[in-house]
Amino acid sequence: MRVLFAAAECAPMIKVGGMGDVVGSLPPALSKLGHDVRLIIPGYSKLWSVLDVPDEPIFIANTMGSDFSVYETRHPTNELPLYLVGHPAFDTEKIYGGDDEDWRFTFFASAAAEFAWNKWKPEVLHCHDWHTGMIPVWMHQDPEISTVFTIHNLKYQGPWRWKLDRMTWCPWYMTGDHTMAAAMLYSDRVNAVSPTYAREICTSEYGENLEGLLNYISGKLRGILNGIDLEYWDPASDKTLPSNFSVDDLSARDLNKKVLQNRMGLEEDPDKYLLGMVSRLVDQKGVDLLLQVAKRLLSYTDSQIVVLGSGDRNLESALWQLAIENPGRFSVFLTYDDDLAHLIYAGTDAFLMPSRFEPCGISQLLAMRYGSVPIVRKVGGLVDTVLPHDPTNESGTGFCFDRFEPIDFYTALVRSWEAFRHRDSWRKLQLRAMNQNYSWDSSAIKYDLMYKEVRGIKEPSPDLDVVQKLSVGQGADPSLKTDSKAKNKA
Ligand code: GLC
Repeated sequence: MRVLFAAAECAPMIKVGGMGDVVGSLPPALSKLGHDVRLIIPGYSKLWSVLDVPDEPIFIANTMGSDFSVYETRHPTNELPLYLVGHPAFDTEKIYGGDDEDWRFTFFASAAAEFAWNKWKPEVLHCHDWHTGMIPVWMHQDPEISTVFTIHNLKYQGPWRWKLDRMTWCPWYMTGDHTMAAAMLYSDRVNAVSPTYAREICTSEYGENLEGLLNYISGKLRGILNGIDLEYWDPASDKTLPSNFSVDDLSARDLNKKVLQNRMGLEEDPDKYLLGMVSRLVDQKGVDLLLQVAKRLLSYTDSQIVVLGSGDRNLESALWQLAIENPGRFSVFLTYDDDLAHLIYAGTDAFLMPSRFEPCGISQLLAMRYGSVPIVRKVGGLVDTVLPHDPTNESGTGFCFDRFEPIDFYTALVRSWEAFRHRDSWRKLQLRAMNQNYSWDSSAIKYDLMYKEVRGIKEPSPDLDVVQKLSVGQGADPSLKTDSKAKNKA
């Protein structure tokens, strides 16, 4: 089957969050199943220096009043055909943000749709997050192209209808208050990247005001879990690590802890309990919970904490402050550093993900693969991937807590710190985590089935009356009152 992925990010060359990882690693797993999978992404200027891009475009067209060109190259690691939409709007340093963000990504979606209609026609156009959300609307009347829409983050919902009307073509049949709502209504299948998240978003607690709509489309809503690329993420062959290791010889892992402690200015001591976090520093990730418990944990235990990531200025400065107050115990690098991330997975004893919500989460999968025991909140994909540690029955792969409350998180941290004292049992816990198989293989089969399903079925038009009743805000458009609504997927 011909499948075209359209997205704003693609690892390893353009990545802000987990969506980039998925877009970089799911296509080769699908291609192993026999599909002809290709990708189309914005032609960010930085890509011209990291990829081999021919001078001549393969397609030139005009949409939304602007010319664009599409260049064909190959993905640097999986070698699949990669199309870049060239336009000056993508010459920015930052992928997200900026005043023209709504226009920029709606334009990208429109260019990808033109390309799919006129140059390389896929049978399934697989769209990711709001940036590509108008594509299912436009494709709705084309029986030759079916659409699948993956929600990586429901919080960012794209421009509202009034703005879309001014920027682009909104077909006569289109309904839905904003890009995300329209994407969900018109795509043939919607996937929320884990079974638990797919259930959670149908409730008011996690639905981001779209729970009514999600219940309405629940017949086509799925929750296929993300996977990871086991070849790339392999502690036995990872070239960035000071010392490679595997389940057969965990002692080789120790050197990574030593190097990490040294690199991050912590006291070099193999017995100290070393906790790590690699994350976008945003509200979603529960960094505020860590800030609330860190001082207490550091004073009552001999733990050390390392944090790597960037994002919200307030969270950054609070972390920075903690590091100043706790030299040798708490260290933070406010940046994105891929090699250091690998070292944190490979060198820490435990890995923190106290998320408010978590569609799937990739870092806990990487941490487990590298022998760092995850401490997670029981939410979204974290529920589906981390099983609670039970020393009596020698089962489980991490520590889990329920409520988004400092006391719950703190208790989980102390339980894990105590468990770390029992070295034999801890080692078994690490090995159980490392032996989990979170490759793409089984999820790719589920996507494959979904593609086959949609090729037989075109969704009927949404029932306008029902949709109007369910619409978010009942007609009130909050973005008319405030401009602060975050739409970028950071
Ligand atoms: C977003 C979500 C994360 C998910 C990733 C890939 O970054 O926050 O939970 O794993 O997308 O789907």
